[in-house]
Amino acid sequence: MSVSLSGDLFSRSTRDTAIDELHAATALYTQDPIVVQLLDQIAWPAGHGALLDTSCGDGAFLGRALERLLETHADVSDVELCARLEGWEIHFFAASEARTRLRRVLIDHGRDASSADALASQMIRCGDFLTEGPRRGQYQAVVGNPPYLRMLNVPEPLRGEYEHLLPEYARADLLHSFLDRCAAILARDGELAMVTADRWLFNESAARVREVVGQHFGLAGLTRLDADSAFYRPKLRRAGTPPRIHPVAVVLKSRTEVVQPIGRAPIYPDERRAGVEVAPAHVLSEIAEVRLAPWLGTPGIFLIDAAVSAQWPVGTTVPAIDTDDIQAGVLTSPRRRAIVTRPEEPPASDVLAHLDRELPRMCGRGRSAVRWMPPEPFHRFDLSQPSLLVPRIAKTLKPVRVPAGVLPVNHNLSIVRAGSMTLDELEALLNSQAANDWIAHRAARLENGYRSITTRLLRALPAFR
Ligand SMILES: C[S@@+](CC[C@H](N)C(=O)[O-])C[C@H]1O[C@@H](n2cnc3c(N)ncnc32)[C@H](O)[C@@H]1O
Repeated sequence: MSVSLSGDLFSRSTRDTAIDELHAATALYTQDPIVVQLLDQIAWPAGHGALLDTSCGDGAFLGRALERLLETHADVSDVELCARLEGWEIHFFAASEARTRLRRVLIDHGRDASSADALASQMIRCGDFLTEGPRRGQYQAVVGNPPYLRMLNVPEPLRGEYEHLLPEYARADLLHSFLDRCAAILARDGELAMVTADRWLFNESAARVREVVGQHFGLAGLTRLDADSAFYRPKLRRAGTPPRIHPVAVVLKSRTEVVQPIGRAPIYPDERRAGVEVAPAHVLSEIAEVRLAPWLGTPGIFLIDAAVSAQWPVGTTVPAIDTDDIQAGVLTSPRRRAIVTRPEEPPASDVLAHLDRELPRMCGRGRSAVRWMPPEPFHRFDLSQPSLLVPRIAKTLKPVRVPAGVLPVNHNLSIVRAGSMTLDELEALLNSQAANDWIAHRAARLENGYRSITTRLLRALPAFR
């Protein structure tokens, strides 16, 4: 008994070490603009089908997908949410990061913290997709960036498990195994949108994988990606350089609606006519600071009418603006003020007395560990320069000038501040037809012609010149 128990413990810990090594060797996370481009090429969340990310890392694809689902199906039930979005990740830490990301999206869309926790845990399975994941299924969409690693380099005991289970033709590289399984569980009218290393498209060792995938699916899009800008590495990575790969964005659809069939014959990405748009070289987040306006919790506590603070010492508040302060695209005179507090120093006595009186009304998710701090502190925020704000729900991009010293508040606004471009240039970019067309193709549609222009989407806006 004791021998087999210690044997179990031993084998469990070597498997954990192998998972750490596999994660370190395969974790190259996809940058948001590419995630957005790929999700734009599939019909999901239209219909009722499920979307799967087989190896979700920190949840880049799933976070974006969840936003789209919640923004187009505002009244989706918890049960339906779990049926429509599923992620797998073998590494515990990455899985917990993905859950945190989904939790944040759920809370931003009105779920309370405890149901967001429960939903995120159900949607993300921490496990080995190849050995524990679904082997049959009817997924409507499979998205992501599956691991690429030659099987020879997969650490034991995982390699032994894969060799035991996976068909021989799909065993040369983990990418082949994932593609083979994805094709098996995708509905015949389903869609696959993934970043992959390019070599499965032309290597002889993947000929049978191409043939199997090509039985029901063909190439609907193929774009060369730039390896230097397409990925980021997880924060907790182990030392070592990422593998040198040549990535492509691949979209597979039913054979009946494809640009090019797939079969044993090699496909050379650079010889093809472009199927989809090339990833932009520069995006807004590289040339400007784009952030979400802070949410200050229940109104009347940290966000107050100007009259409330009229007698308070100078500097205890700053003028604050929300969407209702914008009229016909122009900012009106701010009617509200935001209380400025710092965690290390209690505010002036009048301010503290106001907070102590009003804080019992604060909603659950607005409460902070330091009682005089708002849920999203902004005391480090530099208000010395003017900025632009972009309403989150709008028909087009509508940048509005905000003078220095004024704080935009509430997640309904994104704040854009100058970096390597001047504010005038940024304003011209946001007002350009190209930028508005780009947003119109990507922002989730709401009712009456409105769109959801998220901060994340703005960050990914190409810097059209
Ligand atoms: C290339 S990263 C991509 C992550 C994410 N989809 C993205 O695009 O940002 C691949 C991820 O697959 C995970 N992974 C590797 N083998 C796996 C397996 N057998 N089952 C589930 N996840 C796996 C790794 O831990 C890593 O986080």
